Amino acid sequence: MRALYLFEFCDQDWIPSGARECLFEIMDACNSGLRSFNRQVADAVLDIASTEGINRIVELGAGRAPVTAQLAVDERAADLTLVPCDITPNEAVYRQLVSRFGDRVKPIYSSVDITQSHAELDSSVLVMAGMMHHVPFELRPAVMDALSRSSSTMVIFEPLKRSLLSMFLASLAIVPALLLPITFFGRPGDLRRIFWCWLFPIVPPMFVWDGVTSCFRQWTAIEWQNQFDRLDGLAKDVEVRSGFNSLRIRWSGSKSQRRLPESSRPIEDTSAL
Ligand SMILES: C[S@@+](CC[C@H](N)C(=O)[O-])C[C@H]1O[C@@H](n2cnc3c(N)ncnc32)[C@H](O)[C@@H]1O
Repeated sequence: MRALYLFEFCDQDWIPSGARECLFEIMDACNSGLRSFNRQVADAVLDIASTEGINRIVELGAGRAPVTAQLAVDERAADLTLVPCDITPNEAVYRQLVSRFGDRVKPIYSSVDITQSHAELDSSVLVMAGMMHHVPFELRPAVMDALSRSSSTMVIFEPLKRSLLSMFLASLAIVPALLLPITFFGRPGDLRRIFWCWLFPIVPPMFVWDGVTSCFRQWTAIEWQNQFDRLDGLAKDVEVRSGFNSLRIRWSGSKSQRRLPESSRPIEDTSAL
């Protein structure tokens, strides 16, 4: 199946903010509620931070910052600084997190675009959950190159793959999308969710479109490995893991002092993240 970079509704700035917020809430309902994707990301990130002795975790393309939210309530992350950021920062969500966990959550309120270089992204674990497929194919090599020149450890998690199975599962998301006003009932925005999901129900099909499009935008594990090979050794300790409906890619920047144990394998097929 060919990779295709079609538009996604959640990338468009003409989408009304209420509808956009619903799209992100459905994503949260799917990845934190229906599946434990965000929990698994948080666990994997904690593991990396503790093994490598890094005490700052930056969630790039954070959206509603689901990984930061999981880490903020986790005692194992008590000594870590958690930094959510995004090209379109969700200030309201960041402020809620700061009001509860201000000692450890330190958001970046200005726009952070991964395709530009940012000194503040050094010496950290950089988490990119469900966001790398929003970077156009032609920009990805330069982004990987820039990140690989840092002293950080990068970890990309994708909750979907470029496969028919992933596309089928993405289309089933119409159900949690239609149920959003019920599953999120009682949280601020009840009327907004009822409007966009039931009275003028364009958000559920938009979410399904975005999900299937996200699958087409994914690189396969082999394509990721080929891209790392082109970096000519700049990226250290590269690991590419492919699950049945997810991908996990991890590597360290060339200025990083840390090394993976010898036993780690560069490409692995696993059903878990
Ligand atoms: C599908 S959402 C995922 C949000 C969140 N990581 C999650 O899992 O719920 C993709 C996010 O990537 C952000 N994004 C897209 N392009 C970006 C870029 N060039 N730099 C930083 N963030 C970007 C979008 O604003 C959006 O919040």
